[in-house]
Amino acid sequence: MNQKRKLIAGNWKMNGSLDANAALLQALREGVGTPACAVAVAVPAPYLAQVQSLADGSPIALAAQDVSQHDSGAFTGEVSAGMLRDFGARYVLVGHSERRQYHGETDAVVAAKAQKALAAGITPIVCVGETLQEREDGQTESVVKRQLAAVIHAVGHCVSELVVAYEPVWAIGTGRTATPEQAQQVHAVLRAQLAAATERADKVPLLYGGSMNAANAAQLLAQPDIDGGLVGGASLKAQDFLQIIAAAQSA
Ligand code: 13P
Repeated sequence: MNQKRKLIAGNWKMNGSLDANAALLQALREGVGTPACAVAVAVPAPYLAQVQSLADGSPIALAAQDVSQHDSGAFTGEVSAGMLRDFGARYVLVGHSERRQYHGETDAVVAAKAQKALAAGITPIVCVGETLQEREDGQTESVVKRQLAAVIHAVGHCVSELVVAYEPVWAIGTGRTATPEQAQQVHAVLRAQLAAATERADKVPLLYGGSMNAANAAQLLAQPDIDGGLVGGASLKAQDFLQIIAAAQSA
């Protein structure tokens, strides 16, 4: 049993529309009540203003899915941390595996993005995780430690202000979840790494992501070092997401 207040964050990825977002937020607002856990939704940038207004006065916090490593200037298509702050973003994902894989984000870029978020008063949710090949090669620990080390090094004394999400790439969108034991094993490694950098490592929420759903959430969230979830597909269905939130409250 893990008594810390958990965080359940939905990552909508590149999904949604004005109509679909309105329906989803309405259902979430009606169903969520006053949750005993923190709840956030990471929405596509064009919908930040819409979801900011839809979530206003509710316990649902706003998150963005990415942020620029630059403050401003000639970076066409990029969105700065200051812009996210203007729309009330409380969190931003950095280093999601889809950004690393499809947009060539390196550990150094991810670390710079985390820094920019913190400087703007936005909590970065730092995503780490190994590919199937890396797991089969026995590199899981070294990969996630390398990815997190870059961020720890860059943010210095702000380490305790991070959220870290372990998302094994092979479990994302595949329906193949890490077992609670596999996830806990990696979370314990990440916790120890954080503990070497800050006395407040126990305060850093460690989320699990990768095919988390209403059926498997409770078992994952019962692990001692799993402090929440980063939920993709299941966060697009109000009832599924609400069931995961319910599981987090009783875990
Ligand atoms: P799925 O829950 O769809 O596997 O996605 C996980 C994820 O990538 C969340 O960021």
